Amino acid sequence: MNIHACIFDLDGVIVDTAKYHYRSWRKLANSLGFDFSEADNEQLKGVSRMQSLEIILGIGNKTLDEAEKQALAAQKNDWFLEYIHTMTPDEILPGVIPFLENLKTQNIRIALGSASKNAVPTLKKVKLLDAFEVIIDGTKTTRSKPDPQVFLLAAKGLGIAPQHCIVFEDAAKGIEAALSANMYAVGLGNADELAQAHTVIPSFEHINLETVKRLLSSATKILNH
Ligand code: BG6
Ligand code: MG
Repeated sequence: MNIHACIFDLDGVIVDTAKYHYRSWRKLANSLGFDFSEADNEQLKGVSRMQSLEIILGIGNKTLDEAEKQALAAQKNDWFLEYIHTMTPDEILPGVIPFLENLKTQNIRIALGSASKNAVPTLKKVKLLDAFEVIIDGTKTTRSKPDPQVFLLAAKGLGIAPQHCIVFEDAAKGIEAALSANMYAVGLGNADELAQAHTVIPSFEHINLETVKRLLSSATKILNH
């Protein structure tokens, strides 16, 4: 049983947008009279816009009605989109493009599994829309990570069984989702925050074809057990 597909999270894995989500949420929290730290921000990674807002309101001890919450989520998204509109392909994270090219030489199929409702406009801005054969984003899911729905839909879209897939994620909740989907989970970033992953790499930088082959073979071994 081999690996046939790789499913990538978007924010913080393909593009450096995790910082834009953080800045926009922080601006919103500040406008409500409180602040939250980068450590608190880890809880927001990978979860939907409305769930992120609930977490933030919890941090600030704020209780609001539904209409107020919708207005705040829309405000945060407007701020986030201001950042997205200025993006260029320079904001693709280092090593991503050669990594995708190396996967293609190994006949690995490529999909996106993101909670973001802004995934398509973001991919268009950085000229990567065509790199993904299947795109499952926040407009196509009903359940947020750590629920495995987004990754299972991506595998289904490719027509590949979950146990032939690798997921790349920068969020602990995304790693949890990948594991619940019975996929091999690669964490991108800090090994302490992503301790549940099968393996953690700091980034795609310095990864060559040999390392890609080794990764595919370790994932195959783990998923066969
Ligand atoms: C995820 C991000 O990819 O998308 C979260 O990690 C974000 O921080 C979520 O809240 C939803 O994004 P959007 O663009 O639909 O608000
Ligand atoms: Mg992410």
